[in-house]
Parts: sequence; C-alpha cells; structure tokens
Amino acid sequence: MPLAPSPSELTLTGRRIVLGITGSIAAYKSALLARELRRRGAEVRVVMTPGATEFITPLTLATLVDHPVHSDFTEDQDAGVWTNHVELGIWGDLILVAPATANTLAAMVHGGCDNLLQAVLLSARCPVAVAPAMDLDMYTHDATQANLKTLADRGVDVIDPGTGPLASGLVGKGRMAEPEEIADHVAARFAAELPWSGKRVVITAGPTHEPLDAVRFLGNRSSGKMGFALAEVFAKQGADVTLVAGPVALSTPDRVRRRIDVETAVEMDEAVKGLWGDMDWGIACAAVSDFRPAQTSNDKWHRGEVPSAVELTENPDILKGMGEAKQPQQKLVGFALETDSGEQSAMGKLERKNLDAIVLNTLMDDGAGFGHDTNKVRVLFQDGKSVSFELKSKYEVACDLVELWRTTITP
Ligand code: C5P
Repeated sequence: MPLAPSPSELTLTGRRIVLGITGSIAAYKSALLARELRRRGAEVRVVMTPGATEFITPLTLATLVDHPVHSDFTEDQDAGVWTNHVELGIWGDLILVAPATANTLAAMVHGGCDNLLQAVLLSARCPVAVAPAMDLDMYTHDATQANLKTLADRGVDVIDPGTGPLASGLVGKGRMAEPEEIADHVAARFAAELPWSGKRVVITAGPTHEPLDAVRFLGNRSSGKMGFALAEVFAKQGADVTLVAGPVALSTPDRVRRRIDVETAVEMDEAVKGLWGDMDWGIACAAVSDFRPAQTSNDKWHRGEVPSAVELTENPDILKGMGEAKQPQQKLVGFALETDSGEQSAMGKLERKNLDAIVLNTLMDDGAGFGHDTNKVRVLFQDGKSVSFELKSKYEVACDLVELWRTTITP
C-alpha cells in the first residue's frame, strides 16, 4: 500500500517533477528522493546523465516512478525514435537536478548541451532547482561558488548541501541534502506560489451540542459539510487552516494544519478566542446554538425525574466577539441560514457583527442548507453589493466562495 503523507506534511499532489540525476555517488539517494516525491503525490519523470547510470541503474528509478527513464537522445536507435527534450521541459512544473555535480552546474552556466539532461535544462520553460553534491574542495572552489552564484542570480533554486562525512573520506560541506529535506524544500516552494499562501484562516464548522443531562443534548441538523469543504479548498490553495469543529462525523481534509474538536458553543467560543488574534481571516460557518439549558444534570434523567420545563440561557455570540476584536487587517465572513428570503436579516447581521461579507442560504431553496451535499448561496457585502450562485455541490460552492472572497475582500 502506498504510504500517504500526513495531513500537516507539505504535499506535492498533482505536481509534475522532472528529476535530473547526474554522476555523483549521492545518486543512490535519488532513488529515495524519487520515492518520497511520489509518496507526496507528485508525478515524476527521470532523466539520467550517462555518468549517473554508473552509480544507479535506470531500472531502479523506472520501477520507483513507474515510467521509463530517459538517459539518451535516442530511445530506439534502430527505429530512429528520439527523446523529445523540449516536451519534457514543457511537461514539468519543475526540473529538480539532484544530485547536481560540479560538471553539470558548470554546463548549466555555459549552456552546455552534451547530454539529454543538459538539453532538457536548456530548453525548459519551468523553474529549475539544483541540489549540489560533490567533495568539499570542489564545492568550495571559486569556480563552483561562482557558478552557483550565477545560477542563483538567474533564478535557479539552489538547495544547500549538508556538512558531514564525504565519500572521499574528508569531512565538510558537499553532501547532497537528504531526500526528505529536498522534498520539503520543493513542496514549500510550490506552496508559496498558491494564492492563499501565508494566510492564516480559522473556520468554525458543524453544530454545537448543548447538554441537557448526561446523555442528551440540544442540537441542530448541521452536518459540517460546508465548513469542511471550505477548509479543504483554503488548504489546497495554500492557506494555513485551523478548523474548529463541533460534533461531526467528517474526517479532516488533506493539508488542514490543525483541527480542534469541541462540543458546546462555550467551548467553541473559548477555542476561537484563543486563536483569533493570530489569524488573518475568520469564516464562521458553524450552526452555533444561540442558547443552552441553564442547568445540566450530570446523571441521566429517568422517567419520573424529567423536569416539566427547561430553563434556557443565551450562549456567547462567537462571531460577534470576533467582529468586536477584529483588527483592520483581519477579514471576517459569516453565514446566515434563514427560513425566508432572509436578505434584510442577513444585512443586519453583517453590520451588527462587523463582517466583511455574509453568505446567505435559505431553506426556501431545495437542496440548500443543512444535511444536503449541495448548497445555493448568495453573498452580501458591506457596500450593499451581492453575488448569487447556482445550486452546486458544497465543494464547488466552497471553490466559488474562496475565489470570490480573494478577489473582492483582499485589499
Ligand atoms: O445564528 P445566526 O443566524 O445569527 O448566525 C449567523 C452567523 O453567526 C453564523 O456565521 C454563525 O456561525 C455565527 N454565530 C456564532 N455564534 C453564535 C451564533 C451564531 O458565531 N452563538
């Protein structure tokens, strides 16, 4: 079974990486690197220099990436089939040369085209990263350092080698970075390109359960699906997402950094209060119970002990608290589920709770609101403008909303 990355790990889902391997003893680590890139979800094509094939076999790499390895300009000499180096350069989202020898680095600087990898590098349109590996004196040599500087100045991402024992027996800088470090570096680089990269977002989702006795509660029918879909989309687009979830039967979406599970509105309020000051965005999607039983029994009520009436007390308005504490750079969005068209009431909430936008869904629309996998929403903004969407899956609605907020609310 393939090993799955943990949710907090930097993933490479859907990324296309051309892994260039050159003739260094560190090429043995490229097998582990190829496996690690794939484990994180990347598609990998391998291009090996003739020197690299003396250290590790193309068969090893081809097996690990589940695709033939390219190591020659001609794939089948007799049939006249050649490897299209231009296509490889266009296919990739990144060319990663690991290990990168002093020789290949020099060829990159001078535009050498002696082997297939150099041709791919010369015709590539995508970004390039290199993980140098060589002996201490070769690495510190002025020529190598000048080459690395030239490449870095041209925008090549240089992944620093580590310090330690080298194949020569010397100890010093020159060891290729470890496969996990290289994979982390590459993934962080991709993550930084995403539209929500660097933004911290807290999302409340699901219902709250307000205990009546030891086993019963006051709750509502919210499934948490809309909030979880939003968490998934934000995280995919690079945001650092904290999900504060009421009692729901949903697993944490990939790449969501942190999930705090709560039961009651008071617990949700405490969790959010502890987080909000450090956040850039708040999305209040939870269907928080506005009230709770004033008294809760620690035992289960039995027949004959059931109170004839239950006194209720108000819960904190979590979103209102966020709105009151909101700093000018923070953005805040609420949701309003109404039983009528709800526009006036939603506008009232937008103002009272100091929101940048409110998402309105009404139970008048079939397929919208609690429990469904679909939703139909209308977004109202402070300036009175609004945007309406058709009935869609909650995931599609989340995609629409996240993009709409990014383009309309971000200053
Ligand atoms: O309950 P109401 O319709 O006022 O909810 C509107 C918004 O306020 C929602 O975004 C909901 O998550 C939030 N809310 C809250 N705390 C409450 C009640 C509602 O954060 N106690």
